[in-house]
Amino acid sequence: MIEFEQTVVDAVTGHMNGDHPEDNLLIVRAFGAPDATESTMVGVDGLGGVWQITDASGQREVRVEWPGGEISERPEIRREVVALYKAACERLGVPAREEHAPAGAEHHGAHGEQAAHGEQGGHPHQAPEDDGSFSYAIRTATWGDHSDSEGSTIMEDIMRMRGTLDDYTALVVQHYFMYEALEAAAEQLAANPRFAALHPETLIRQQAIVTDLEHLLGADWREQLASVPATVSYADRIREVAAEGWLPGIIAHHYTRYLGDLSGGQMIAKRVKKQHGFDRAGIAFYDFTELGSIADFKTTYRAVLDELGEQLSDEERQRMIDEVRLAYRFNTEVFIDMQRARDSVSA
Ligand code: HEM
Repeated sequence: MIEFEQTVVDAVTGHMNGDHPEDNLLIVRAFGAPDATESTMVGVDGLGGVWQITDASGQREVRVEWPGGEISERPEIRREVVALYKAACERLGVPAREEHAPAGAEHHGAHGEQAAHGEQGGHPHQAPEDDGSFSYAIRTATWGDHSDSEGSTIMEDIMRMRGTLDDYTALVVQHYFMYEALEAAAEQLAANPRFAALHPETLIRQQAIVTDLEHLLGADWREQLASVPATVSYADRIREVAAEGWLPGIIAHHYTRYLGDLSGGQMIAKRVKKQHGFDRAGIAFYDFTELGSIADFKTTYRAVLDELGEQLSDEERQRMIDEVRLAYRFNTEVFIDMQRARDSVSA
């Protein structure tokens, strides 16, 4: 039986306990502890999940097996947790909330947050279907890495509005260096008629980052910029891919950042706006009003990815997916480094 790495177990249990406490209770009530009053997810492995529950007889652990049988890959966990949730709803006769593709857009924060995706575009959020497309393959193959990134402490702190303004400012500073490299690389896409649709001018973020930095750090923002080591490596990798002229590689980095900004980024902006009372300056980076409908842009983006996938060999497709995974890992490492920098200041 597969034992997942501790970081994976921590990410999954942290996410379930932080964002889906009610689902934890529902699952154990349906499978093994009908009268549970509390339930915390404490483990996950190839065969199932483990919850620490409290009921009238005290505390104990309840193991529930995955509905789809044994699993071995990180992205399968989400699929099985969603399946377990649905099976629990069915067993208890509770209507299940609307679910999305297995790679799972349903997974964040309060469920109502999905509205964030449609906000600027006025379209309801639509997660892609498993249609065998390349865009779906990328999403599915990399979703575990996405969860690691999203579950990083500093990201969680910002999302839960317990991060400080300095945490957020440090993030904007890292964005400055990332987008400096990314947007220089992306010029190669804009100049290529096949990929121009991926990089309209209204997507470009550097000016918005400067607006935010002026607001957050003042007129001398430039002198205060400091990148963490992972940001330097990340930007170097983007420059390397660009220098090679490897377009799928550039798109891999482009996809990871911009689709993220247009997805979870919209939720981050809402939280930061609320916590720190920003209007536009401070969160201009997340404002894509000029791009038009976010939902439409994502649809176009995925269509271009799908066309690209049809032209690439299996090996090239895999190479591109690996580059997306690498991009996610750089982002996660940036968050870890930011946290280190924060801890060393406060120590
Ligand atoms: C608190 C942090 C985050 C939250 C809450 C979050 C949330 C989400 C959600 C709900 C989606 C699905 C949107 C949809 O289906 O349209 C999504 C997609 C995405 N996110 Fe995140 N995210 C976070 C962090 C990140 C980070 C750090 C990155 C990488 C830099 C990232 C990159 C992406 C990408 C590339 C997608 C598109 C996946 C696809 O549909 O192909 N996200 N995010």
